[in-house]
Amino acid sequence: MALIAPSILSADFANLQRDVEMINRSEADLIHVDVMDGRFVPNISLGLPVCAAIARHATKPLDVHLMMIEPEKYIREFRKAGADRITIHIEACANLHSGIMLIKETGALAGVAVNPHTPVELLVDILPDLDTVLLMSVNPGFGGQQFIGRTYSKVKRLAEMRESAGLDFTIGIDGGVSLSNAPALVAAGADVLIAGSFIFNAPSPEQAISELKKTTG
Ligand code: DX5
Ligand code: ZN
Repeated sequence: MALIAPSILSADFANLQRDVEMINRSEADLIHVDVMDGRFVPNISLGLPVCAAIARHATKPLDVHLMMIEPEKYIREFRKAGADRITIHIEACANLHSGIMLIKETGALAGVAVNPHTPVELLVDILPDLDTVLLMSVNPGFGGQQFIGRTYSKVKRLAEMRESAGLDFTIGIDGGVSLSNAPALVAAGADVLIAGSFIFNAPSPEQAISELKKTTG
């Protein structure tokens, strides 16, 4: 079964504690926290104080996705704000390896995210250092966008690279994930499914999490 990570970006920010408690009760495995700087992506979401507030109520690990330029500057701070996993973008880092080493130094799990236009083959020399790779299946910046179908072949190629190198990093998919694509993504090699609008726009978000979990197993 894949891990399910509801994206708090689609929660009700005026009722964050309620929504975090719903995730606590649910079959979700992680809480995905999207940080946007208005520079790397054309949107601004939330930052350190909100991340710390979520961490105060969360009983599941915080999976922090930094969609920002020069994320290295804030890695220690996000760890202090409760991040258990920290993912930075290959497109945003001049010195990706240093950033990954810094994440590990803080004790968090380290991930690299890749935008839809970035070939997974560019990761070949960093894969042995990673706990997770996050494949963006939409252009980052907003929830509720349409899933990009070419992601299936990227998952397969990345899973083949993992297999042939004998590595064990997890593969996450972020953007437009729903019941309609989850089984095929898992069949292609995905281990972590991030979902925002599918979960929070459902009549019962808790049940939507449960259905998503079941469809992967
Ligand atoms: C997009 C974010 C995603 C987003 C997913 O930039 O990284 O985590 O919240 O939302 P949905 O599932 O609505 O595409
Ligand atoms: Zn995300």
